[in-house]
Amino acid sequence: MKFERNLGLDLVRATESAALRSGRWMGRGDKNGCDQAAVDAMRMALESVPINGVVVIGEGEKDEAPMLYTGEQVGTGDGPEVDIAVDPVEGTTLLAEGMPGAIAVVAVAERGSLYNWQGLAYMNKLAVGEHAAGVVDIDAPVADNIHNVARALDKHVEDVTVVVLDRPRHTELIREIRQTGARIKLILHGDVSAGVMTAIEDPPADILMGIGGAPEAVITACALKCTGGEIQCKLSARSEKDQALIAEQGLDVNHVYGINDLVRGDYVFFSATGITSGEFLRGVEYFGGGARTHSVVMRSMTGTVRHIDASHRWDKLMQISNLPYDRGIDQVIG
Ligand code: FBP
Repeated sequence: MKFERNLGLDLVRATESAALRSGRWMGRGDKNGCDQAAVDAMRMALESVPINGVVVIGEGEKDEAPMLYTGEQVGTGDGPEVDIAVDPVEGTTLLAEGMPGAIAVVAVAERGSLYNWQGLAYMNKLAVGEHAAGVVDIDAPVADNIHNVARALDKHVEDVTVVVLDRPRHTELIREIRQTGARIKLILHGDVSAGVMTAIEDPPADILMGIGGAPEAVITACALKCTGGEIQCKLSARSEKDQALIAEQGLDVNHVYGINDLVRGDYVFFSATGITSGEFLRGVEYFGGGARTHSVVMRSMTGTVRHIDASHRWDKLMQISNLPYDRGIDQVIG
């Protein structure tokens, strides 16, 4: 059976590599530097993963991204045919500013099964973990969803936590949530972590609501498919460019994309590694001669969620890779 191997255990090396390299850019105020370091490391690590992969959600079109661009072939070419969604740094601003919650993420699913992202930047999202799956409806009033989740989780509404990106566009949403009495966790960036957080053990949040990146919605859907959670999304046209794209492609902003529209496959693998410490994952901890990473690896077929604490040694990494792991940041830049 072609998906017998747990590819997540191969993919984790790619998210670890991205985290190890980009973690060195923490707080340097250089978003491009953060991203480039992560992309280089992730691209190299993916080369040895036994898949015949095509990047479906990547760093942009080929002319704007030399590596991990949409349509790029990755992997050894030997293994199963798969779609890949990458976000080498999810929360680039968080990392560049030295703030909590930046992660490196990769998701893989059988070929043709990831939502064919049409270049539209934003989606309105509603995500919950397994125990609240099936009780939410993105078209229903905010209060109804919160009350239904409270009932499903056997919680008081006042004990339900809703995560929302802290954006002016969410003023009305936040007002409606506050009216129910539910708790709100406002985040600056990183709604992949926020969505996935609703579906982990002892979840620090129960619901993700609001408008965030469309590619991030697909990546979140992959993790929720592995854990049994649910995500519903609607395209959100926030600019004239978006409206033109919607008209051009005949897209429907009222259409609700469910988890099985965002990721149709039954064989889904998800790996994330913390770069800066957050509620979801611990960040990279550097020590003399190496560093420790904390990752989570998920597989839909078995529902397995593995937390992997790894200790990495620069001297050993240097033997298998031509990335300058043991050098100072200035040499890395050069
Ligand atoms: P980047 O890592 O690409 O900067 O994305 C961070 C992020 O906060 C996502 O988690 C989120 O989906 C999106 O940006 C929200 O977009 P915006 O900052 O434009 O509201």
